Amino acid sequence: MPEVSAPDSILIGGDLRVNRIGFGAMKLTGDQVWGPYPDHERAVAVLRSVVELGVQLIDTADVYGPHTNELLIKDALHPYPNDLVIATKGGFVRGGYDYDTLGAVGNVNYLRQAAYTSARRLGVDSIDLYYLHSGRATDAPFEDQVGALAELRRAGLLRHIGLSNVTLEQLRVAQTIVPIAAVTALFNVTMRAGSDLLAAAEQDGIAFAPWHPVTMTDGPLATRAAEVITPIARAHQASTQQVALAWQLHVSTQTLPIPGTTSIAHLKENLEATSLRLTAEELAAVDGISAA
Ligand SMILES: NC(=O)c1ccc[n+]([C@@H]2O[C@H](COP(=O)([O-])OP(=O)(O)OC[C@H]3O[C@@H](n4cnc5c(N)ncnc54)[C@H](OP(=O)(O)O)[C@@H]3O)[C@@H](O)[C@H]2O)c1
Repeated sequence: MPEVSAPDSILIGGDLRVNRIGFGAMKLTGDQVWGPYPDHERAVAVLRSVVELGVQLIDTADVYGPHTNELLIKDALHPYPNDLVIATKGGFVRGGYDYDTLGAVGNVNYLRQAAYTSARRLGVDSIDLYYLHSGRATDAPFEDQVGALAELRRAGLLRHIGLSNVTLEQLRVAQTIVPIAAVTALFNVTMRAGSDLLAAAEQDGIAFAPWHPVTMTDGPLATRAAEVITPIARAHQASTQQVALAWQLHVSTQTLPIPGTTSIAHLKENLEATSLRLTAEELAAVDGISAA
């Protein structure tokens, strides 16, 4: 069975070209994504390796920590290499240590404040890619939230706008207000919540960043995923995470997975997934996991 190759870079917003596998920094925080990562030196070493190993997109958010994740990125990497894209997000707040206290806020002044203070924490005048973190806020109309980000884009604070955790309908509404350069959604071998957004991203040439990209323990399909992926991994002398990432890269030209890790060994392994060539039959088997 012939092997299938995937493009090794992707264009965001028509002017930012990045390698296909990014890095999700969320895990470099404390327990429950609250407070700083306990081993600061290790977190700095992971982030420096991310850049040294050729990753060109780091995904963070003001709510990771809150704030500690953006500050860590600045501490580890500022001044940033010219070709590094930092994507951050605003629109979620935490009520305390418990992750369940996460809540969406759409107040437009809050969103403006969030964007300005993210730029300050990251040490940049302009944020490369700024996502509205959630389409679920109900305290302001969605159009107004996107409109606030569009204003900040016109003012030069935001270079490109993205949407996180939105519906397809919300994406279509947002696109009438401002160009959308990227969407990010839960999408992995067992959970395909973002499938309709991925189809729209393909249609419109938008980058699609699957989050939880190497997670296989979510949902009722975990056992089936293990049954399908373990033999494929064995055949390629690869890990199951590498197979999951290779599938993500092949499933569309628009995917830009952002795996997260606190381990330099796992980071290297994840990046090596770009050279894993799966056969069309193997790709179809992974595709089929969610349809089972
Ligand atoms: N927009 C949103 O609402 C949203 C929500 C969630 C996440 N995100 C973003 O998506 C990024 C990725 O999501 P995630 O970190 O939650 O999930 P993930 O990337 O699917 O999985 C991360 C977990 O997998 C482990 N792992 C990673 N590579 C591995 C490997 N090669 N072998 C074995 N284990 C491996 C990591 O543990 P080790 O540390 O031990 O490697 C970590 O526990 C986040 O960092 C964040 O930036 C966005």
